[in-house]
This record gives sequence, structure tokens and C-alpha cells, in this order.
Amino acid sequence: MSKTTINTLLQCKSNKEKFTVVTAYDATFAHLASAAGIDVLLVGDSLGMVVQGQDSTVPVTLEQMCYHTSAVKQGNQGALIMADMPYMSYASPEQAIANAAELMQAGAQMVKLEGGAWLVGTVEAMSERGIPVCSHLGLTPQYVHKFGGYKVQGREDSAAKQMIADAQAMEAAGADILLLECVPSELAKTLTQSVSIPVIGIGAGNDTDAQVLVCYDMLGMNPGHIPKFVKNYMVEGRTISEAFAAYNHEVKQGLFPAPEHGFKA
Ligand code: KIV
Repeated sequence: MSKTTINTLLQCKSNKEKFTVVTAYDATFAHLASAAGIDVLLVGDSLGMVVQGQDSTVPVTLEQMCYHTSAVKQGNQGALIMADMPYMSYASPEQAIANAAELMQAGAQMVKLEGGAWLVGTVEAMSERGIPVCSHLGLTPQYVHKFGGYKVQGREDSAAKQMIADAQAMEAAGADILLLECVPSELAKTLTQSVSIPVIGIGAGNDTDAQVLVCYDMLGMNPGHIPKFVKNYMVEGRTISEAFAAYNHEVKQGLFPAPEHGFKA
């Protein structure tokens, strides 16, 4: 089975081929998603909400992230494993390096952290030490209490410009990929064109280099509010493997997301 690496993702960007990401929190889902062709498994701190039933990602701990990362590693069939650095685990460069090391030793091949230019020194230090980094911009769920809710980001001109500057600062600092959550589709398109590293989108339109969805959302396992950017692939009598394969196909063919899954400025 072929192994996805950071080079595969860069190659996708330069060949203008989309790649796919879903969240996974355990060995079984990791196996099914990666065997269906998904390129990247994100051990998201969204597990605090969909697995633990919390109302935000803030309570998730490093120990819990390491536990789930290690489970995902056991089931993985060749996808690249990216793990979220939980709340306040990267407040200083020293903390970030020590905590990322634990996630890498648990099975992550890349770590994701939320925030823009203030993380330049941290990302530089991590990159110098060989830790691949994904920088998460836009709606960064660990900031929910600062934002006053889960709101689309970058709608005002100044915020949009700041986000593009943050993305470029992250690339210059050594970030390997970017993830954009809940931003207007036009902004996501401009931002994707303004950097040479791959950009993954969720609620960010169809012009990013890749898409990510929370696996429970795309498998129709969401008992609460269903965000606008979600599509349920568990339809037409599909198995879970077939649902992952359908998502993989639609993203790679440019069929998902459709305009109705995106946001306007
Ligand atoms: O934690 C997570 O699942 C995420 C995705 C929503 C992008 O960060």
C-alpha cells in the first residue's frame, strides 16, 4: 500500500490534484478511511466534542490526543497522520516542541496548531527540529470563547488581509501546510493562490488544494446542529467504506464542496 508523505501533498499542489482528509480517532475508522483512499487522517481535537460530548475542544488534553493518535496509527493503511496540538499545549516554543514530540512518538507524522503570526517563532523552532507543522487559520475552535461563538472569519476587508498575511508568515516560518476553516470562499481562493504550500479547507469553498470533514459528520452521525459545509455520504445504502470512497472521489473530481456548502463575504 502506498504511503502518503509530505512530498505527496506538495506534489498534489504542484500538479493541481486535490487530496482528501478526514478526522479519525480510533483504529477501525482509521483503517476504513485510509483503505478507501483518504490521503490524510486528522486526529482532531474535535474528539472532545464528538467522542467525549464536551461543548468545545478546550477540555482536551495532550494525554488524550496521544492515546487517540496511537490508536489511529494501529489502523492506518498508508495515510499521513496529522494530530492536533490541544489547547495551551503550544503557548511557548519550548512547550510546543516538548508536546509535539509526544504526539510524534505516539504516531503523528505532522502536528496542527491554531493561530497566525504570533506563532512564527514557535513554527520556526519546530520546523528546525524536524517537526512537520500544519497551521490552522480562520475559525480556530480553541478560540471559541474569544470569538464569542463558532463564526465565519475573514468577512471584513482588514480581517481578510490579516489572514493572508498570517498564511504567508506561517509559510515563511516553515509551516508545511495550512488549514482554513469557515472563511468566505473567495478569500480561501485568494489565500490558496498566495502561498506555495498546500491549503486544506473546511467551509472554505472549492478552490483550496484539499478538503477535510469530521468523519462523524460525513457519515451522518451528527445528532445535533449540522453545519452548512457538511455533506452526508452515508446515503443510498452505502457501507462506511463506500461512503469514505464516495467522499474521496467527489473531492478529487472537484464535485465537493458545491457552492451551497460555502460562505460569502
Ligand atoms: O479538530 C478537528 O477536527 C479539526 C477540523 C475541524 C479541521 O480541526
